[in-house]
Amino acid sequence: MTDTDLLPFLPWNRPSIGAEEIAEVTDTLCSGWLTHGPKAARFEETVRKALGVEDSFAVSSCTAALHLAFLASGIGNGDEVITPSLTFCAAPNAVLQTGATPVFVDVEPLTYNIDPHAAEAAITDRTKAIVVMHYGGHPCDLRAFRKLADDHGLLLIEDAAHALHASRDGHRAGSIGDLAVFSFYANKVMTTGEGGMLVGRADLVHRARLLGRHGIDSSIWKRHGTRNTAAYEVTVPGLKYVMSDVTAAIGVQQFRKLPAFTARRAEIAATYTSALSGLPGLATPKVLPSVEPGWFLYSIFIDDTAPASRDETAELLRTRYKIGTSQHFRPVHTLGIYAQAQAHPLTVTETVARQQLSLPCYPDMTSRETARVTDALQSLWGERAEAAARAPGRTATTDDRCLGYSGADSF
Ligand SMILES: Cc1ncc(COP(=O)(O)O)c(C=O)c1O
Repeated sequence: MTDTDLLPFLPWNRPSIGAEEIAEVTDTLCSGWLTHGPKAARFEETVRKALGVEDSFAVSSCTAALHLAFLASGIGNGDEVITPSLTFCAAPNAVLQTGATPVFVDVEPLTYNIDPHAAEAAITDRTKAIVVMHYGGHPCDLRAFRKLADDHGLLLIEDAAHALHASRDGHRAGSIGDLAVFSFYANKVMTTGEGGMLVGRADLVHRARLLGRHGIDSSIWKRHGTRNTAAYEVTVPGLKYVMSDVTAAIGVQQFRKLPAFTARRAEIAATYTSALSGLPGLATPKVLPSVEPGWFLYSIFIDDTAPASRDETAELLRTRYKIGTSQHFRPVHTLGIYAQAQAHPLTVTETVARQQLSLPCYPDMTSRETARVTDALQSLWGERAEAAARAPGRTATTDDRCLGYSGADSF
């Protein structure tokens, strides 16, 4: 039996829930009001103020927020929406649900965010919106995208699922787009189990609220009590996407803790970067000087010069060291219904998809757990170094150059 056999499995992600969330949920359960009401309103207002946006609407998931964003923007049949392929399928799926077509473009080599030049090259007279996604919590070039959208009369929608609390050039992610969406899914920087929020321009959020509440022109909370609950009209064919107050209760407390969560994630990221930077063939993430990242993901990139491939590393971390990892993402253009010839080159996207590995990085991780991850990678690299040294030499591949580095420590 080895020391590792005695250790529990270290998952890739684990939510941080404390006594405060439990007390707030209990308060809601005892309040007599469980659906979208005063707690959801409090949660919406807190996030709205923090971002400095015009309006906010708490919903059942980020996917619901995306669907509402596209519907409220009037996106539909015949329209095109530019989006990265290096993302989760939620935004492209929601685009398809409206009858519009997602147009996939490549990401930048250093931040893995949608490339403004690639996005510009993909604009046609059918383009209605650009969806940017702040990869892993590192905001994209918000100013460049705002200008691009304005110059071409397009809507800018921020998929900020990873980036609540992140900023670039002094602007919070989610505060620049006409609309922006956040995810409170169980693995995100703060969670409500399932949940999301749509924020942005008052006219668009107002329409989204109507669409997300059956198309009914007043909220049940406002109609409750002494008012006539049947006094409403249906003004558009809406859906039911609201967040419950039980969920919002968790959100109120998680949002209060978010700065501390982010600080702890940043600490873990700094530990990883200093311990892993010298490993051959392994690159650590780059943060641009004007950026305060949210550190939803801590990504490493393993190229062909490394002594173990990305997939082998993930498998050995899991089986030998009992450490969970994840990969972000399988590019959407390679998945099922999306797998067809693409109009635009996706070279960087495909390279990232082969090389990227997400390491555990969440507030409740202890220093001992962080050391488990760095020790495992260092010992794996050490063990393989001798064998790799005996193998035929290798020079940088096109993949490596495409990601902006040609060896381990130049990234
Ligand atoms: C970039 C991105 N957008 C949207 C979503 C969808 O979020 P939700 O699960 O809250 O619908 C995810 C989920 O992981 C995501 O990573």
